[in-house]
Amino acid sequence: MRLAGKVALITGGAHGMGGAEARMFAREGAKVVIGDLLEAEGRQVAAAIAAAGGDARFARLDVTSEPDWRAAVATTVDAFGKLDVLVNNAGISGSDPDTLSTALWERLMDVNARGVFLGMKHAIPALQRAGGGSIVNISSISGFVGQPFIHMGYNASKAAVRVMTKSAAVQYARDGIRVNSVHPGFMPPMLTSKTTADPAMRAEMLKGVPMGRAGRPEEVACAVLFLASDEASYVTGTELVVDGGFLAL
Ligand SMILES: NC(=O)c1ccc[n+]([C@@H]2O[C@H](COP(=O)([O-])OP(=O)(O)OC[C@H]3O[C@@H](n4cnc5c(N)ncnc54)[C@H](O)[C@@H]3O)[C@@H](O)[C@H]2O)c1
Repeated sequence: MRLAGKVALITGGAHGMGGAEARMFAREGAKVVIGDLLEAEGRQVAAAIAAAGGDARFARLDVTSEPDWRAAVATTVDAFGKLDVLVNNAGISGSDPDTLSTALWERLMDVNARGVFLGMKHAIPALQRAGGGSIVNISSISGFVGQPFIHMGYNASKAAVRVMTKSAAVQYARDGIRVNSVHPGFMPPMLTSKTTADPAMRAEMLKGVPMGRAGRPEEVACAVLFLASDEASYVTGTELVVDGGFLAL
């Protein structure tokens, strides 16, 4: 039980990789709060965790809203007494036919970059009160390189996550708060993926992955689990890439 006694808030935990992280964290002994816009799906994940003997709650959270963040952190501390781990996983895709949309640029930066900043802003005081903790920010291979068919705002937002992670790591290291980023590669499509959800395009994109396959949400969750756990006690400000070798090519 690598997270025994820990309390974790996971954004975007109602679906995809966030759901996998919530289930894995609970299996490893964490009490979990799932913060998401998708209320029915988020409650289902929490109920499945409870049915398996774990402890989970749902908090309706739009990561772009400061009042929602205040409420989600308060819900977590009210329910479980403290906050030890924040996983900033919620995000939207930049896979859209209109790769020069200004509205999409703004939305991508709002959810993927500003949402992560707000999460850190509102969680850090609670982590300080707990005597330290771990923040894991989900970026992407898109935070390192450009890609065809992906709105440049997605790359910009994920690069912002990569570097703001380092800012927070150096600023809060003396508080015992570790802050790291995880960079998934080619994974199942996001709920908001458009062009890259097309099977023919996915087959073409897979050719650029040395391992020749997409990643599984659990493979990313394992990386997040490590960074959240005390096994990573001297790891802060770093980037953990989970991409089947894509960036090594
Ligand atoms: N799927 C991929 O190929 C891939 C690759 C690299 C990185 N990522 C990143 O991994 C993270 C998880 O992606 P996924 O594939 O599980 O996507 P997903 O679409 O399956 O899940 C994203 C979750 O975030 C939630 N969400 C979206 N906007 C929100 C908001 N404003 N407030 C609260 N919750 C919100 C959604 O409701 C959903 O439950 C994202 O940050 C994504 O950018 C995904």
